[in-house]
Amino acid sequence: MELLLLLLCLSGPLFYQLVCSAPIKESIRERHLQEGSKFWHLSDLHFDPTYHVNKDPTKVCFSSKGVPVTDPGLFGDFMCDSPYQLIQSAFSHMKHVDQQPDFIIWTGDSPPHVPVNELSTEAVISVISNMTHTLRQFFPELPVYPALGNHDYWPQDQLPVKTSTVYQAVAKLWTPWLSPEALATLQEGGFYSQLIKPGLRLVSLNTNLYYTPNKVTENMTDPAGQFKWLQDTLELSKQSMEKVYVIAHVPIGYLPYAKNTTAMWEHHNEKLVDIFRSYSDIIQGHFYGHTHRDSIMVLLDRQGMPVNSIFVAPAVTPIKSPLEPYSNNPAVRMYLYNPQDYSLQDLWQYYLNLTEANKKEMPIWSLEYIMTEAFGIKDIQPQSLHELALTFEMPQSKAFQKYFTYFMVSYNETITCEDDCKMVQVCSVHFLDRESYSWCIKKGSTGGYHFRAKN
Ligand SMILES: *[C@@H]1O[C@H](CO)[C@@H](O)[C@H](O)[C@H]1NC(C)=O
Ligand SMILES: *[C@@H]1O[C@H](CO)[C@@H](O)[C@H](O)[C@H]1NC(C)=O
Ligand SMILES: *[C@@H]1O[C@H](CO)[C@@H](O)[C@H](O)[C@H]1NC(C)=O
Ligand SMILES: *[C@@H]1O[C@H](CO)[C@@H](O)[C@H](O)[C@H]1NC(C)=O
Ligand SMILES: *[C@@H]1O[C@H](CO)[C@@H](O)[C@H](O)[C@H]1NC(C)=O
Repeated sequence: MELLLLLLCLSGPLFYQLVCSAPIKESIRERHLQEGSKFWHLSDLHFDPTYHVNKDPTKVCFSSKGVPVTDPGLFGDFMCDSPYQLIQSAFSHMKHVDQQPDFIIWTGDSPPHVPVNELSTEAVISVISNMTHTLRQFFPELPVYPALGNHDYWPQDQLPVKTSTVYQAVAKLWTPWLSPEALATLQEGGFYSQLIKPGLRLVSLNTNLYYTPNKVTENMTDPAGQFKWLQDTLELSKQSMEKVYVIAHVPIGYLPYAKNTTAMWEHHNEKLVDIFRSYSDIIQGHFYGHTHRDSIMVLLDRQGMPVNSIFVAPAVTPIKSPLEPYSNNPAVRMYLYNPQDYSLQDLWQYYLNLTEANKKEMPIWSLEYIMTEAFGIKDIQPQSLHELALTFEMPQSKAFQKYFTYFMVSYNETITCEDDCKMVQVCSVHFLDRESYSWCIKKGSTGGYHFRAKN
């Protein structure tokens, strides 16, 4: 039957178009996915246990903070954090797509966005515990490598520089996934590293220690000694000829939607960029969350050469604040990588059209895009992302329009990003330190779009 179809498909263009193109393309894609080495990336689950469809639109979820919701359904609402059903649908989709990924990275933020007095240390731990157990129910055999988010603490954002009830609780909850050495530093400072494959080290940073709302750490040069630990860890990795994946919740660099704004304290950002530049030859990828949006960055070295690929994964939660013009559809993603040198090959972005799922009362998760296909690049390594990002800078760049639609996880294709919006996006991709970023903004404000990397 397969052979017959194949022959018919080759016999004429009309028949091909009618019958063959989609399924064959799909099956080639599926095979490609089955054969490769891959891992999932999950971020920003933000589980709201209070979500329930209710006649009173102000009472659907605590996370809408009394603001009336617009279209509440079984799988959530754009004014609310994730109902349990949405999270279950994401995990069961992941299970359905592929049973053989190597591991999952999970970049934090399990609790809902609610006023501080509606949570407590116990409530935060209970939500993290629920998410941890739910993941283990769906993927009992799979290692999961978590990073703490700014909401994975109470009061939110104030992650401390020494051991705490939350650090101790997560070290206990994540015992099945992490080594004793990893658990020891996790319990002390909320970060760890672990050799996860022969020659591949995962470094999970607690970048919440550098996050601007964290008042405890504002003026510290090295909160929890994490910079020193990171440098020592990377130095040891280098000597041991290891490759490294860096995961964390709060991303480095400048925000793609707020001009001249880092998520971290600027001096901490400078320091981190410095360390990453020094060890860029062993770092094969950076994976962050926090913004809820889908974006990339390319770390340039001091000569302006692309040295690292950086990915910010979109959220599972669809929540937006009433002031924001757009949100994101719920999303999970998979990376394909080379099992020899751990270089990144591709990224498969999946999403749930929330409006449609609620309408049909069916969570139909689907493939949003495959990065190499969508943008016509050969892989997702620094040089390829760099070349792609340069095309964003062109006026009316189709690639940039596509990138911006995916930034919102296809929330609304008709919303566009031009002028200042585009400049801020484009500068954030290439310029992660203060000097080069300011240069980009200055050039963009005076000379139109043409921000070629410095030198
Ligand atoms: C997580 O919370 C949901 C909703 O409150 C509940 O139904 C489920 O049993 C909990 N799961 C675990 C593993 O705690
Ligand atoms: C940090 O230093 C600045 C400037 O000296 C000061 O205004 C601020 O209050 C300090 N923050 C903390 C948490 O000590
Ligand atoms: C999502 O579903 C809605 C309702 O069915 C539809 O109008 C919209 O075009 C869909 N979005 C995408 C990106 O397919
Ligand atoms: C999409 O955006 C356009 C333009 O901003 C707006 O007019 C339209 O109402 C939006 N559609 C939805 C479904 O939000
Ligand atoms: C960015 O903000 C800093 C203060 O954080 C300021 O010193 C600098 O001039 C600003 N740069 C631009 C290009 O606005």
